[in-house]
Amino acid sequence: MNLVILETPQDLARAAAELFVAKSNEAVAERGIFTIALSGGSTPKLLYQLLADPNKPFCEQVPWPSIHFFWADERHVPPDHSESNYRMAHEAMLSKVPVTRDNVHRVMSENPDAAEAAEDYEQTVLRIVPGKPSRFDLILLGVGADGHTASIFPGSEVLHETKRLIAAPWVEKLKSYRITMTLPLINNAASVVFLVSGAEKAEIVREMAQGPKRYPAQEIRPAEVRLMLDREAASKL
Ligand code: 6PG
Repeated sequence: MNLVILETPQDLARAAAELFVAKSNEAVAERGIFTIALSGGSTPKLLYQLLADPNKPFCEQVPWPSIHFFWADERHVPPDHSESNYRMAHEAMLSKVPVTRDNVHRVMSENPDAAEAAEDYEQTVLRIVPGKPSRFDLILLGVGADGHTASIFPGSEVLHETKRLIAAPWVEKLKSYRITMTLPLINNAASVVFLVSGAEKAEIVREMAQGPKRYPAQEIRPAEVRLMLDREAASKL
């Protein structure tokens, strides 16, 4: 795992924005499109805001119309719900930049049947993302203090999934379903970037980097993986 440590959450967002610009232009130059899965949670919000900020250099450097946006996971709530990962990315970035509307592929998480929403999303991934199985250019992930990533939680049956690309596990601790990319899809990506910020993540980061393999986040091992941290998250390394 390629470890990158930045001083502040703002520095972390800037470094991730530089990587986003580089990877998106590289993919569009080679293949005409860039396929990315966005992370949910709170940490990537600074990155999304920075990419969309017209007063910063990044916004005009991104080939927005050629990017296909997906989500690594979604909460089982409608797209206008405060917990929606789609809503966060839409408000922080996608509503402010010239994306091609049909290239924004959100999970139909308003569907009361989470398993059906997962199956539909898998069909969309298979239809849009090239490769057998589909190979994303970049997947952004976070890490929970319990070692979960996307919505693959410790002890989840999704950890043993070998075929499906999208699953809808019941998460007992949240008393809710989640819709999530599975390990076969994530580990087939060309590149994965973990964005991790804050002192509350320092212990799990230490265990991920130094401890035995115990956590879902440690099962992420595609061709290229970066663990991008701010100083606080790296404070126990
Ligand atoms: C979600 C996420 C989840 C997140 C981690 C870290 O939907 O919650 O995709 O995997 O990345 O829980 O969340 P924070 O960035 O809020 O700490």
